[in-house]
Amino acid sequence: MPLLELKGISRTYRNGSVVVEALKGIDLSIEEGDFISIMGPSGSGKSTLLNIIGCLDRPTAGTYELAGRRVEKLSDGELADVRNRLIGFVFQNFHLLADLDALGNVELPLIYRGVRGKERRRRAVEALESVGLGERLHHMPSQLSGGEQQRVAIARALVGEPAVILADEPTGALDSRSGENVMSIFRRLNRDWRITVVQVTHDKNIAQYGSRIYHLLDGEMERVEVLDRHRAGPQPEGPPPGHTGAAPGAAGSEPREVYSE
Ligand SMILES: Nc1ncnc2c1ncn2[C@@H]1O[C@H](COP(=O)(O)OP(=O)(O)OP(=O)(O)O)[C@@H](O)[C@H]1O
Ligand SMILES: [Mg+2]
Repeated sequence: MPLLELKGISRTYRNGSVVVEALKGIDLSIEEGDFISIMGPSGSGKSTLLNIIGCLDRPTAGTYELAGRRVEKLSDGELADVRNRLIGFVFQNFHLLADLDALGNVELPLIYRGVRGKERRRRAVEALESVGLGERLHHMPSQLSGGEQQRVAIARALVGEPAVILADEPTGALDSRSGENVMSIFRRLNRDWRITVVQVTHDKNIAQYGSRIYHLLDGEMERVEVLDRHRAGPQPEGPPPGHTGAAPGAAGSEPREVYSE
């Protein structure tokens, strides 16, 4: 059974008399452990699709099954709960809270889940260490580089041990070196922790980190490009680092490994 399966998904926006069909009958099936990229021109529906996958928005037609649940049948409260437990988001402009330090930002999703002080701090520190930011725990977002801010955002996305990371242009605001750094983290999360990764990108090189590239055009799936998994993106640098012993909730029982630069 796929981890997520969309059938005939459409999303129509109405602004007064203006109707935009942002998605027109999208079929998409993603297995646990996939790493896929979505490309397409501006306005082709990429963010709309990602928001529906992430349960931030609902389709106007079609069916969506996520981890065995029919999403369209869930109440708003159930939807928020599914989102909180299964999905980690990473955005182009990081979306960090400016008045919280790195640790505070990463602790946030755990506060929503009712994880208490000491345990919460331990897990947040571990997540920040896993993206190479163990030395930046008390830096404010304004004191971090763009690449570092994005790594804080990734730590925040993964601290809840999601099944899926959804990333909308995660390298769009970064220089190419920081962008590749973010991709090497995604690859580790995907290969070592079996977290499913779905990313939207305009960058062909970044897209190559996935094993399939879905090309959207005018709200429709134009074509799917299947890449050779073993050749996708540059090869990993260095041996796998030591691990934390924390086990991913929805992603099986393999040990989670710490990322370090
Ligand atoms: N809230 C909204 N109300 C009305 N129309 C919308 C809304 N959000 C998106 N659209 C329209 O839906 C279409 C798809 O938008 P979407 O944001 O998914 O594109 P995109 O592929 O992510 O583009 P970009 O690469 O520029 O981010 C666009 O034509 C956009 O104008
Ligand atoms: Mg977009």
